[in-house]
Amino acid sequence: MGPREIRRGIHWVGAVDWDRRLFDELIPLPDGTSYNAYLVRGSEKTVLIDTVDPTMTDLLVANLDSLGIKALDYVVANHAEQDHSGTLPDILAKYPMAKLLCTPKCQPMLVDLLAVSPDRIAAVEDHATVSLGDRTLEFIHAPWVHWPETMLTYLQEEKILFPGDFFGSHLATSDLYVTDEGAVYEAAKRYYAEIMMPFRTNIEKHLERLKDYLIELIAPSHGPLYSRPGFILDAYHSWVLDPPENTVVLAYISMHGSTRRMVRHFAQALVARGVSVKQFDLSSADIGKLAAALVDAATLVLATPAVLAGAHPKAIYAAFLANALRPKTRFATIIGSYGWGSRLKEQIIGMLPNLKVELLEPVLAKGLPGEADFQALDNLAAAIAARHEEFKAA
Ligand SMILES: Cc1cc2nc3c(=O)[nH]c(=O)nc-3n(C[C@H](O)[C@H](O)[C@H](O)COP(=O)(O)O)c2cc1C
Ligand SMILES: [Fe+2]
Ligand SMILES: [Fe+2]
Repeated sequence: MGPREIRRGIHWVGAVDWDRRLFDELIPLPDGTSYNAYLVRGSEKTVLIDTVDPTMTDLLVANLDSLGIKALDYVVANHAEQDHSGTLPDILAKYPMAKLLCTPKCQPMLVDLLAVSPDRIAAVEDHATVSLGDRTLEFIHAPWVHWPETMLTYLQEEKILFPGDFFGSHLATSDLYVTDEGAVYEAAKRYYAEIMMPFRTNIEKHLERLKDYLIELIAPSHGPLYSRPGFILDAYHSWVLDPPENTVVLAYISMHGSTRRMVRHFAQALVARGVSVKQFDLSSADIGKLAAALVDAATLVLATPAVLAGAHPKAIYAAFLANALRPKTRFATIIGSYGWGSRLKEQIIGMLPNLKVELLEPVLAKGLPGEADFQALDNLAAAIAARHEEFKAA
């Protein structure tokens, strides 16, 4: 892509990864991603903020070369994860005078993860500043965005926030800035769900602290830049703080169709009572979409047949994921079908200790669901609709 000028003497020098389809060998990337790195030149000093995934080192180096950068004074590591720090060893070798700046927590992590020599690193305290001459960087410690060592970097004169992974989106695009807010909203919400939601209380504190800063541009480490910061700040406030919506996430799997019949009936019963339903067939569901749906759903329902004395492994995975992501879900239950007996109910319930949910009475049918089972599903739908009404009124 080549360097992109943001302001005079400030360039995006990162890499767009159009082809990557999995992150951490886990998270689907339907739209690729980018690793954003930024070069800031002051009247006296030059700094590189973050680097790129080690698979794309050549692109970062080519960008710096094309800008004629012969020396760097500082390299800022907002985060020790390799998609941003992985090229640090190459950059430190190329620019032997550069000092690496990061939080005290990050310092040993860069040594452990990347074998960076400790004498190249200077730890910066919360709110410490570094002068580049006519420009000043301020470091804001922000632990658990989404690792313990993370920080944000603020360029005071230009009022640009470089928040690392915070506010990012996995989106490969040739647009430097957000142009299609709808598309970025979806990508950023999925990203929040997968990466930031487990640390919701920390994220809330960081959002609060950022109110003290005038921010004209947010330049995250993934996805396009926000020239209208209110767009993503408001979205984060709503994902973190708004009460959940009148929606059921219905994640299901069915081997021979019995559970599927229950799911169809149940979804209709919910919709008939004014509750929105988001269905995910766990045999093929995009777990990023499932995670994004959990951001604001009031209720999670897992639908599974019995398999080998427990729940279907795909349902177990969904339960594991929901528990790990810690959404603000208020209610949960299970529906499904069994042949002779299993402990699927106890197993799934035992997997959700992190969710602060009221568990509603599960509905399990023996084989094909019959009239009594459909009646029980209607009752469950009514109970969910009533619970949603109650908390909306509260
Ligand atoms: C591989 C396999 C393992 C099963 N293990 C159990 C079990 O341990 N306990 C049980 O009650 N039923 C078990 N069953 C029966 C199914 O739970 C039952 O057929 C159920 O109705 C299937 O629902 P479905 O049509 O939604 O897949 C098993 C079925 C299969 C195919
Ligand atoms: Fe990260
Ligand atoms: Fe990242």
